[in-house]
Parts: sequence; structure tokens; C-alpha cells
Amino acid sequence: MPTFATSPGTRDILAPDAARWRHFQQVFADVVESAGFAHIIPPMFEDLGVFLRVGETTEIVTKEMYDFEDKGGRRVALRPEQTASVCRAFVEHRPVVPWKVWYAGPNFRYEKPQQGRYRQFDQVGIEVLGVDDPQLDAEVIALAVEFYRRLGLQGVSLSLNSLGDSGDRDRYAAALRTHFQANVDALSEESRVTLERNPLRVLDSKRREDAPLIAAAPRMANHLSDAAAAHFVAVQSALLAAGVKFAVDDRLVRGLDYYRRTTFEFVSTSLAAAHTAIGGGGRYDGLVAELGGPDTPGIGFALGLDRTLLACDAEGVFASPASRVDVFVVDAVGGSAATAICAELRAAGFGADRAYDEKSMKSQMKSADRSGAKVAIIVGEDERTAGAAILRTMEDGLQQTVQRGDLVATVRRMLGR
Ligand code: HAM
Repeated sequence: MPTFATSPGTRDILAPDAARWRHFQQVFADVVESAGFAHIIPPMFEDLGVFLRVGETTEIVTKEMYDFEDKGGRRVALRPEQTASVCRAFVEHRPVVPWKVWYAGPNFRYEKPQQGRYRQFDQVGIEVLGVDDPQLDAEVIALAVEFYRRLGLQGVSLSLNSLGDSGDRDRYAAALRTHFQANVDALSEESRVTLERNPLRVLDSKRREDAPLIAAAPRMANHLSDAAAAHFVAVQSALLAAGVKFAVDDRLVRGLDYYRRTTFEFVSTSLAAAHTAIGGGGRYDGLVAELGGPDTPGIGFALGLDRTLLACDAEGVFASPASRVDVFVVDAVGGSAATAICAELRAAGFGADRAYDEKSMKSQMKSADRSGAKVAIIVGEDERTAGAAILRTMEDGLQQTVQRGDLVATVRRMLGR
């Protein structure tokens, strides 16, 4: 028989990581819901047109999209990110502004798989639609910083830039094109191709031969309109006032075309070079209009769950939550006592597990060890006859015999609940 393994770039998330995964999303939900964000669950696939609005020169759209024709002849795509879906939902439902939503879930990009880079990866994120105020930009960024603090992550640095309004961005792109074209022979092969598509992305090149030309390239800061420059100054003042540390990096362009004005990226200083970007975001003031809605400003971020957990591992923080099994029932007399005792314990609010198939006492004790339970309840022939059970503290092996009727109360005392 053929056997199957996961497709390249996908993984099974097994215990105990799966519980940590859920806990991660829960901590995020706590942080953002207490700031007034409501949960949104957009579909995992949409009309391809929704994602085309992310930008014609964006790699996740041009090269990495999982798009296909469904059986009804519709051109659809698995979402490569969720900002476009949130904007599509805004246009579809026309909620009252400001609309503040958060999301968590998988995204799909046909990337070259490696550690920290997957074809199916998870993000948590927020989006706010309908607010221009630079105070909001700072608040959105501060929420991500607060989330990292709750995880216990220390090595996170924040880069900040403004890409200006759409006119500024176009003028800057033209200036860059002129600069790089004038020296095109000195550019790497890859950057020459990038230059054709999007001169801003040449700034992202990490190739050594491109470094001198990039260092000499025109600066975005000199191409900002007065309004965009004032907005950027106000964002920085608000961040300083909030005590959020950041570094302005006017080479930060980010991979998606929809960004305007404020853009930012969180980088883990504990991870190896290939996948240090653990989150990013910015303003996308034209995206709702692109999707057929009214002119509506928007800002948000998405944090990569997979990568952030790798950063947590590298720093030894945010461990998997402890086992939810409080008690493991070892039944050496057929198994029906374990069924009854487990049901009783679960109904009383305890986590309870047991073994099956009349395994040996030794094997059941091994399972008890593995389960992470603090207490084992053991029922052998003598206990069954006496209507009793042995309670054993797993940590020190101390045992006591109690009557069946007193089991739950005794467990409650032992676990201090
Ligand atoms: P992004 O920078 O494409 O932005 O993705 C955000 C984060 O998702 C990245 O910093 C990274 O941690 C994680 N990520 C991206 N691709 C992968 C991958 N292949 N494998 C593992 N992790 C990955 C966005 O998606 C925007 N929608 C963010 C945003 C929200 N901007 C405004 N609102």
C-alpha cells in the first residue's frame, strides 16, 4: 500500500505544540479584545480578484498564489493573507466605523519551504478601518508590542518607515528606477529582474553586489508629501510617548503593494537570518476603494505564529501549557471501574484519563506517568472487593486507600481545588 506524508511546506502540529498554538491565539485574543477588537473569521478561499488587489507586483500574488478554477468555473484562490479579505468583508457588510477586527488562522503561499517558511502558515492579526489618526498607528503597534510582552519575548526589534501617499510612492519608485537604471550593470541579475517589476523591492535585496547601489539610492524621506511627513512625525511622537522603542528604517518597503504611509516590521533578534521577520503591518489607505468600497483608511498587522513560536523556543519562553489530565485511573480488574471513575471525575470538573484493553498494571502505570497527571487512582482486586481505591501522588509515590464514595472529595483536597 502507498503511504503518504504531508506536502512540502506543510506540517502536522502535534501535541504538545498544538495546545501551545491554541494558547498563543488565546493570549492574542485577550490582548486585542480588551482593546475593543471583535473576532472575524474570513473564508480560506475567495474570488481571485480580491487578492489581485493586494498588488500586481506583489510576489505573493504573482508567484505564490494557490489559485484554481473550481468545479463551477469560478477562479478562486486560497488566501495568501487576510487583510484583503477583511477589506472585502468591509465593503460587503458596510459596518459602522471605526471597524476593529482581529483574526487568527492559516494562509497559503507557494514559497520555497525551509525552517520558518512554510506553504501553509498561521497568522494572528488586527485591522482597523475608517480612522486616519496617527494616534491609532501608534496604538496598533503598541498592541503588538504588548502581545510580545505577554508571551515573554524579549529579543524583538521594531523597524518603522513611511511609504508616503500613493503619489509619493510613485514618485519615489520613479526616482529609484532612474537611479538603478543608470547603474544597471552593477546590479545583480535578480535585482535587474526585480527592477523591471518594482524598483522599491530592489531595496530589499540582501546580495552583496547590490549593497553599494542601495546605499547610494534616493531616500524615501525626501519624497514624502507634507501631509505624509507630518503624519509620520506624529506617529513617532505617539510611540515615544507610549514608551515603544523603534528604529526608523527608510529602506523598509515590505512585500505587499498596498501599503501607504506608516509601515513597520518586527524582527526577532534570536532567530537565524532567513526568517527573522516575525510580524509586520502598516497602512493601506487605498485598498478598500480598490475593492469597490468608499475611500476608507485602514491599518493593521499580522504576526506569524509559526515563526514567533520558533523565536519563543530560541529564547526559552512561552512553554507548552501543562497537561489537562489531573488524574490517571489504573484499573487492573477489567476496565469498567475506570470508566465509572473517569466519568465521575470529569463531571466534577477534573481532567481524567485511563488505559484500555486490560493492559498490565506496569504498562498502565507507564501511561499514567506519560499523561502528566498529578494523581493516579488504582483499582486492583482487593480494592474492588472492599469498594475502595488507592490514591497515589505521582510526584513522591505516596499512597492512601479511600472508599469509592470519598474519591472525588479526596482528589479535590489533594489537588487543592
Ligand atoms: P506579511 O509580512 O506578508 O504581511 O506577513 C506577516 C508575517 O507572517 C510575517 O512577518 C511572517 O512572520 C509571517 N509569514 C509570512 N509568510 C510566511 C511563511 N511562508 N511561513 C511562515 N510565516 C510566514 C501580511 O500578511 C499583511 N497582511 C500584514 C498586514 C495586516 N498589513 C496590514 N494589516
